[in-house]
Amino acid sequence: MAYSTLLTSLEAGIFTITINRPDKLNALNKEVMQDLDTVLQEVENEASIKAVILTGSGNKAFVAGADISEFNGLSSSEGRALAKRGQDIFFRIENASKPIVAAVNGFALGGGCELAMACHFRVASDNAKFGQPEVNLGLIPGYGGTQRLVQLIGKGRALEFLMTGNMIDAQTAFNLGLVNYVVPQDELLPKTTALLQTIASKAPKAIAHCIAAANAVFNPAKNGFEEEIKAFGECFDSEDMKEGTAAFLEKRKPVFTGK
Ligand code: COA
Repeated sequence: MAYSTLLTSLEAGIFTITINRPDKLNALNKEVMQDLDTVLQEVENEASIKAVILTGSGNKAFVAGADISEFNGLSSSEGRALAKRGQDIFFRIENASKPIVAAVNGFALGGGCELAMACHFRVASDNAKFGQPEVNLGLIPGYGGTQRLVQLIGKGRALEFLMTGNMIDAQTAFNLGLVNYVVPQDELLPKTTALLQTIASKAPKAIAHCIAAANAVFNPAKNGFEEEIKAFGECFDSEDMKEGTAAFLEKRKPVFTGK
């Protein structure tokens, strides 16, 4: 499918989504959000997509935030609707049944940092910069940033980050556990692709269960340990679990089919 603000490509099961507004540092305007909404349906529906890389075009920005030019003149109810829409889309990323990894290739500010945090994990290029600078605009994050930042780096560090609006570099983000790897820019996509190739070689249902069980930790409506028991049991009904255990016992590589 073609998108006006996204570039997409599929290679060996790895689907790369590139947010493509480089002249505006890939800021998230309404059109980008609509395209993200639609592309997430494509990710879920398309069986040939095994894993997803989310990145930004150019070598300066992943995403420099929500598009500030769309904020002017909004009422409080319009502000709430904007935040709700953003949160709904980012929840779909977080709860996707396939791994979605952010390849952060530059500024990840405001909504860009929130987008990266909604992904299952993050790989950063060494020029990446992270920040929640909303307080500079008299605002707070609205796309889940106050929640996911606390989850990922702890409350004290998150509150410093949120209240100062300061940017941190990729190495600091790594030290805080916000990103899993820092690599030179030209190694960003190869590194992320290699990680996703490893994941894509496993049983897809087991991967989906890993995501859902880990997400349950942060969902007050769920008991994560119960979710784990349920998911563990469901794995026993899958062809892939039978194949995986048989292959181990027969000392051969498993061939997973997703069934
Ligand atoms: N919303 C809308 N437009 C944005 C944007 C955003 N979040 N971030 C950058 N842009 C636009 C700039 O307005 C500029 O457009 P123009 O060339 O038409 O004037 C273009 O992207 C390039 O940005 P510029 O500011 O000239 O680049 P820079 O290298 O001097 O600075 C940043 C880079 C990221 C430090 C700076 O763009 C910035 O602070 N952006 C806003 C970050 C932010 O507050 N995000 C949270 C939003 S809630």
